[in-house]
Amino acid sequence: MLKNLLHRIVSNPSVYDRLQIMVGSKQIRQRLSTHLQQLPPHALVVDLGGGTGINHELLSTVSRYICLDNDPVKLKGFREKYPTDFGLLGNATQVPLQSQSVDLVLCTAVSHHIPNEFLTAFFSEAMRILKPDGRFVFMDAVWNPQRPISRLLWRYDRGSYPRPLETLQGLLEQQGKILHHENFSIYHTYLIAVVAPK
Ligand SMILES: C[S@@+](CC[C@H](N)C(=O)[O-])C[C@H]1O[C@@H](n2cnc3c(N)ncnc32)[C@H](O)[C@@H]1O
Repeated sequence: MLKNLLHRIVSNPSVYDRLQIMVGSKQIRQRLSTHLQQLPPHALVVDLGGGTGINHELLSTVSRYICLDNDPVKLKGFREKYPTDFGLLGNATQVPLQSQSVDLVLCTAVSHHIPNEFLTAFFSEAMRILKPDGRFVFMDAVWNPQRPISRLLWRYDRGSYPRPLETLQGLLEQQGKILHHENFSIYHTYLIAVVAPK
């Protein structure tokens, strides 16, 4: 019941954005931004599970940004903030975009929402839509039971599938070529990876 109540409160886009800042989103996005520097202005960026478009501010030089999410409430929050950008209601495990059409696929804090049976499709869809010289920038918190604060946060998280670092890295390696990876801890332990098509 407490979990349901929290979810109702957090699904409000402005509460969600504030909560992200409290749980270290600023530091995480600083790290992410170092991998998003070399995009040409005409690059097409797709943010899978982009929610309210919190990554948009990291991409100020980019003119074509698509925020794909399966939650209409989050997309409404996105559209209110960025009325000239494109919010796409869709499923990240069956992306309604052409193969090899995207310069950068960004996906942050989403894989822990994806059930096991769809996880391979989730990663392979990200790689499918990438141009041959495109990049997939992935970030998520991982399951690290040695951190009590992380265990507590996972208990109340809407995403029910936190996974160990090795599981996520292994899946990324199956689907593409990992050019860079790093892990660090704030409350959770996080993985950031930059992946190119094989
Ligand atoms: C924790 S939020 C992360 C939002 C944003 N990427 C960020 O970093 O703040 C997870 C997002 O993934 C979305 N999501 C979960 N499963 C999805 C799916 N199968 N397809 C598309 N979006 C999904 C949720 O609606 C939610 O907006």
